[in-house]
Amino acid sequence: MGLLMSEGGRQGVESLLPRDLLSDATVFISGGGSGVNLGIATVLADLGAKLAICGRTESTLEAAAELLRSRGANVVTAVADVRDAAAVDSAFKLTEDALGPVTGVVCGAAGNFAAAAQDISSNGFRAVVDIDLIGSFHTANAAFDQLRRTRGALLFVTGGQSRMPFAFQAHVGAAKAGVDQLMRSLALEWGRYGIRSNSIMPGPVTGTEGMKRLGEGPGLAAWTDSVPLGRFAEPAEIGRMAAVLLSPIASYVSGAVIAVDGGLDLTGSSLVNNSTMKNTTP
Ligand code: COA
Repeated sequence: MGLLMSEGGRQGVESLLPRDLLSDATVFISGGGSGVNLGIATVLADLGAKLAICGRTESTLEAAAELLRSRGANVVTAVADVRDAAAVDSAFKLTEDALGPVTGVVCGAAGNFAAAAQDISSNGFRAVVDIDLIGSFHTANAAFDQLRRTRGALLFVTGGQSRMPFAFQAHVGAAKAGVDQLMRSLALEWGRYGIRSNSIMPGPVTGTEGMKRLGEGPGLAAWTDSVPLGRFAEPAEIGRMAAVLLSPIASYVSGAVIAVDGGLDLTGSSLVNNSTMKNTTP
């Protein structure tokens, strides 16, 4: 593999990892209809995984399923809001009936908006904690019985806000810090069932709703300049690491937060914060 070919997400994953790496896998992805989670689903599809994608909006899920099927994947869609535990339970039952028990689960459903802490209502703060943290708990909890049978793996999608404060992200930081600690608790408690639990921590990713929202305040250049690699990730670059973490390659990896952020975690959030503050009046 040449140096240039290792850059960016344009290279097909099948030239980097065995094409049948996930041919025995059935993966449930909450929030799988768009953004980073769809990027993950696409890579998993290319490596042979059967997929269940879950989200709030049927039309979004159907469009994503069509894309994944065009790549040869066996896909089911499950309409559920992760804040509704009973709906998530039903989504897992539907998945098992259609595809068999899950071997992997991506807890990716997330909500975000940028707002100064003093401007976030109780309901606004709660909405993000409900989707990101409580929703991740509902998803992992509903998955437990199937994961125990397959000795499968959980993968939570976290963010740099979980350990580094970003301006106008108080609600998201609190929720994602909770997600990572939930991940660690499950790694600890469920290891004896053979279940692995990890978090993947993307930095800025091109074309996502999240970055559209987070770019508005500071501007996209402040984000790019904060990343040592000097660019945003392609969704497939997050997907490739997710595939590894859900595969037997990572059979001894549990309880870890894996940064796939071009080094953003090393440089801190000051550049983005200063830019955000500069562009808003106190
Ligand atoms: N600034 C301040 N408060 C905001 C806000 C903003 N930009 N956007 C929403 N809120 C508040 C709302 O005012 C509401 O609070 P209130 O009842 O006190 O007025 C609360 O958040 C819930 O908003 P609502 O739109 O009713 O909730 P929802 O459940 O439909 O949506 C969100 C949840 C708020 C997270 C919404 O942004 C969303 O659906 N996001 C999904 C997509 C997304 O965020 N993608 C990025 C993933 S990284």
